[in-house]
Amino acid sequence: MRSAIIGCGSIAKIHAGAICNLPGNKLVAFADCNLEKAKDLKKSFGDDQSKAYASLEEMIAKEEIDVLHICTPHYLHVPMAVYTLSRHINVFMEKPPAISWQEFKELQSIKTTAKLGVCFQNRYNKSVEAIKEVLLSGKAGQILGARAFVTWQRDEKYYTESDWRGSQAAEGGGALINQAIHTLDLLTYFIGTPTSVEATTINHHLRGIIEVEDTVEAYIQFENIAASFYATTAFCMNAPVLIELVCENRIIRMEDTEVTYIFQDHTKETLSFKMEQGLGKDYWGQGHLLCIKDFYYCLETGNPFKIDVQEVAQVMQLMLGIYESSKNKSVVYF
Ligand SMILES: NC(=O)c1ccc[n+]([C@@H]2O[C@H](COP(=O)([O-])OP(=O)(O)OC[C@H]3O[C@@H](n4cnc5c(N)ncnc54)[C@H](O)[C@@H]3O)[C@@H](O)[C@H]2O)c1
Repeated sequence: MRSAIIGCGSIAKIHAGAICNLPGNKLVAFADCNLEKAKDLKKSFGDDQSKAYASLEEMIAKEEIDVLHICTPHYLHVPMAVYTLSRHINVFMEKPPAISWQEFKELQSIKTTAKLGVCFQNRYNKSVEAIKEVLLSGKAGQILGARAFVTWQRDEKYYTESDWRGSQAAEGGGALINQAIHTLDLLTYFIGTPTSVEATTINHHLRGIIEVEDTVEAYIQFENIAASFYATTAFCMNAPVLIELVCENRIIRMEDTEVTYIFQDHTKETLSFKMEQGLGKDYWGQGHLLCIKDFYYCLETGNPFKIDVQEVAQVMQLMLGIYESSKNKSVVYF
């Protein structure tokens, strides 16, 4: 496969590393509106034949590309995906899939022969896979309730080093759309379709510096299940993400790579699912490589890629519902 990257900032390095790790693939082109960044990434991951460009349009016009990786700011995801997919070029895009429902509908309705994959790499964490397997096996019984906590640190420097971060128009929100969306995705992956949400968002620690929220709390109702969700980037460190599912036959507690089962007789079993091959920062999880590998496998075999635009509709709806509920101070029903 001949691959290309648009947006050569922080996360692009992880995509580039993963692509170069897969046999039979070549990174042929790099594009960034800041040409120097495209050149830098090419220097680290390209070869003499690979090229650096200053725009997506020029890169697509001049290169034969099989897969485009979109690693740009949030507001560019949909326009860039639509431009590329409508030319029947496969797209692997970073989260979030879109920043509004109108944009998301545009993505859903695109006519293309190409595949679209969305990078919710935490689904490939071994701890997540183990929990999904236990839930599907029926061993845990029905889920009765859930809670999820993301308590991370993003300081002023994080927001000022990239101009789009912290801007409502470019980022589409803050702690929720950028960081906690992964945990929200896992909640819907484990539990299913939400029926309503009531939520509040607030900026506690970066008022006057960012326009978006640094903290969100949500009471999410699923059929017969309620989930408490709390996420903040105003904490003093990047603590392990906690998801707890209270089930009929056991409590399932996930703290990043560790899963604890608490059985009805109060005995506990803790399993560690630390993954060996990691790329990037710990709090990104270690699933990028596996997620990208699976996407390319699906392209080669013609199998459907599981995290496609339909699959992420649920988390998109819930995330936008949280923002709507907070803005209108009312319950949002789906
Ligand atoms: N999956 C994860 O765990 C994870 C982790 C980090 C970031 N991300 C996502 O990756 C994306 C990028 O984040 P980042 O932290 O790498 O940001 P970044 O600011 O470091 O990089 C973005 C790059 O896009 C370039 N860019 C901006 N406008 C452009 C345009 N019109 N054309 C071409 N290039 C343009 C910028 O110059 C910059 O180099 C975001 O969607 C973010 O949410 C995902």
